[in-house]
Amino acid sequence: MNTSSTTLKPIQVGLLGVGTVGSGTFKVLARNQQEIRRRAGRGIEIAMVAARDVRRAKGIVGDHVEVVADARAVIANPAIDIVVELIGGTGIARTLVLEAIARGKHVVTANKALLAIHGNQIFAAARERGVMVAFEAAVAGGIPIIKALREGLTANRIEWVAGIINGTTNFILSEMRAKGLDFDAVLKEAQRLGYAESDPTFDIEGVDAAHKLTIMSAIAFGVPVQFDKAHVEGIARLHAVDIRYAEQLGYRIKLLGITKRREHGIELRVHPTLVPAKRLIANVEGAMNAVMVQGDAVGTTLYYGKGAGAEPTASAVVADLVDITRLATADPDHRVPHLAFQPDAMADTPILAIEQVVTAFYLRLAVADEAGVLSKITTILAEHGISIDAVLQRESAEGERQTDLVILTHDTVEGRLRKALAQMQVLPTVLAPIVSIRKEELA
Ligand code: HSE
Repeated sequence: MNTSSTTLKPIQVGLLGVGTVGSGTFKVLARNQQEIRRRAGRGIEIAMVAARDVRRAKGIVGDHVEVVADARAVIANPAIDIVVELIGGTGIARTLVLEAIARGKHVVTANKALLAIHGNQIFAAARERGVMVAFEAAVAGGIPIIKALREGLTANRIEWVAGIINGTTNFILSEMRAKGLDFDAVLKEAQRLGYAESDPTFDIEGVDAAHKLTIMSAIAFGVPVQFDKAHVEGIARLHAVDIRYAEQLGYRIKLLGITKRREHGIELRVHPTLVPAKRLIANVEGAMNAVMVQGDAVGTTLYYGKGAGAEPTASAVVADLVDITRLATADPDHRVPHLAFQPDAMADTPILAIEQVVTAFYLRLAVADEAGVLSKITTILAEHGISIDAVLQRESAEGERQTDLVILTHDTVEGRLRKALAQMQVLPTVLAPIVSIRKEELA
């Protein structure tokens, strides 16, 4: 064994919060302590924990770890080298992270909302103080996607990143497809089974995915985190009928977070998306996560795994602890930059408005089943320079006077499509609000 690993005193860690991820971290560190020491070159020890319920926390961490109710006592302890923030949210968590940094502590956090919204401030404070802020657990749980984007793919000009980065919504979509059910019915079932939170708003409205996407976009393109510029749509308005039509056309519908480099800016968007059923990512089912990254040298890569849960997330937290342990004595200028690019080399490339985004579309129109309807619609699309890729019309039942018309377009600028939709919507033969869902080939 390397002599340094036997002589250096273990690095001292303080945990803020001992919920699911905190107890997972404790377990993984305890179980794999020999392997982790061999890798890190020194031991990693949780020395102090702050928890709201001190008695419960003591039951988890045992007698050798000091448990306190006041998180500031952990931050103020001069013996603590690394503070792990597992509180979540952007309130007290932000204050505590900034205080830990100000006291010269390295920080590990699983808090995507905090970094997507306040990351620029937090990273600047950390740079100033010469400490590391590590956040592998904030994006896609156990999948080492931050490591891959920031280091493994560092040779590449990254072109785009597209991911299933919310397990709750992927579980719901998988169930909707498998059972032919509508959103509300599946959500209730998901809540009953514990797959969805009792307040699932952040998940189903796409906000959680947008937090994670914002962080990946910053790392992929070397731009500041800009959550406020993300276009965010969730899955609550998806209908089983669209999942069915998509399937007939060879597609699955997934909630994707997509960020793309374009000539004049960066696309940053979360929305339900048709993906060819033959793509591996279209076959990621249940609560699993997957992220595709397209780099100019490597081509397309895909990362798959558990995006949540005690030990998968702890796997990422402990990896960050090992990274910090290895680099703690390195000159801060020689560490991996927080957002992959050197802070003085960040780009100010704008995030594009959704009207400027280029994508293909799935359209479903409830139309009167009479002569000339299809031609009026295709004329409007043609007038806006939108090319049709495929058309599907449901055969109407005996005596039925209306039908569904499903159109797949080729890539178009979204603003153009919106204008065409507005014209189609007022046609007397279009009988209900038109459904439009973006489509990506991810080729
Ligand atoms: N609520 C998230 C999900 C897990 O459903 O994927 C933590 O980000």
